[in-house]
Amino acid sequence: MPSTSWHPLHASAKCFQVNSKQMPDTPTPSTLDSEQLGDTRAREISGLATYLQGLAEKEKAEIARMLHDELGGLLTAAKMDLSWLQPRIQAPELQERLAQLGGVLDEAMDLKRRLVDDLRPSLLDHFGLPTALRTFVDAACAKAGLTVAIEVADEAQTLSRETAIAVFRIVQEGLTNIIRHGAAAHVRLTMTAEPGGFALYLSDDGCGFEPTATRQTFGLMGMRQRVSAFGGSLAIESAAGSGTTLHIEVPS
Ligand SMILES: Nc1ncnc2c1ncn2[C@@H]1O[C@H](COP(=O)(O)OP(=O)(O)O)[C@@H](O)[C@H]1O
Ligand SMILES: [Mg+2]
Repeated sequence: MPSTSWHPLHASAKCFQVNSKQMPDTPTPSTLDSEQLGDTRAREISGLATYLQGLAEKEKAEIARMLHDELGGLLTAAKMDLSWLQPRIQAPELQERLAQLGGVLDEAMDLKRRLVDDLRPSLLDHFGLPTALRTFVDAACAKAGLTVAIEVADEAQTLSRETAIAVFRIVQEGLTNIIRHGAAAHVRLTMTAEPGGFALYLSDDGCGFEPTATRQTFGLMGMRQRVSAFGGSLAIESAAGSGTTLHIEVPS
């Protein structure tokens, strides 16, 4: 299971000490040293990536809170002042300006709402993972003109907060990829309860790609990192012309 409280800088410092102690006259075979060093480095980098993803989520949540509470409060106050002014001003050209100002404030409130929701899916906070996934995937597919079938087990509600956010972000990235690269017509999301956890499939019938030929890209790398942080597994089945399926095992 993931250890979210683990601090990679601490591990990094520890590893440095171990290596510097071994460096001088240690007679161990150099190949073993470099293999061990490689493994340690890989674990450190993976731990650091997990830590940074967690940090980014916390910062997003904080920015979302500020936008919602503070900017939201200011915009509401401005709207109230405007409503107070409108019946008190008679000149038609000023009335027109005030109406325009009202429109601008509405747009600003709308933008704030969208930003807050991108930063911190409020559905996830208020209704849990199953509802958040269903609603998000349904709305995103409708907007992109994709036909969608969704089946998410209610038991997914019981996943930890960190795992729920990770699963939500993975589906978000997977769906963004389908919309951006897939040229698909149909999407299917299933998350079923299995012994010991959940099996999640996100598939499309689009152009597909060659997963092994893909250069290292941050979307797929981020997915793998999140999956390894919650102790699950990720398989990508795709081939040019035959759609793509992400298969994720999520331990409960
Ligand atoms: N569902 C999909 N359908 C077609 N191609 C995909 C799909 N998902 C990923 N890809 C391919 O894999 C590449 C890497 O994806 P990703 O790591 O998310 O990077 P990015 O979306 O920034 O290009 C994409 O550029 C695209 O070529
Ligand atoms: Mg992407």
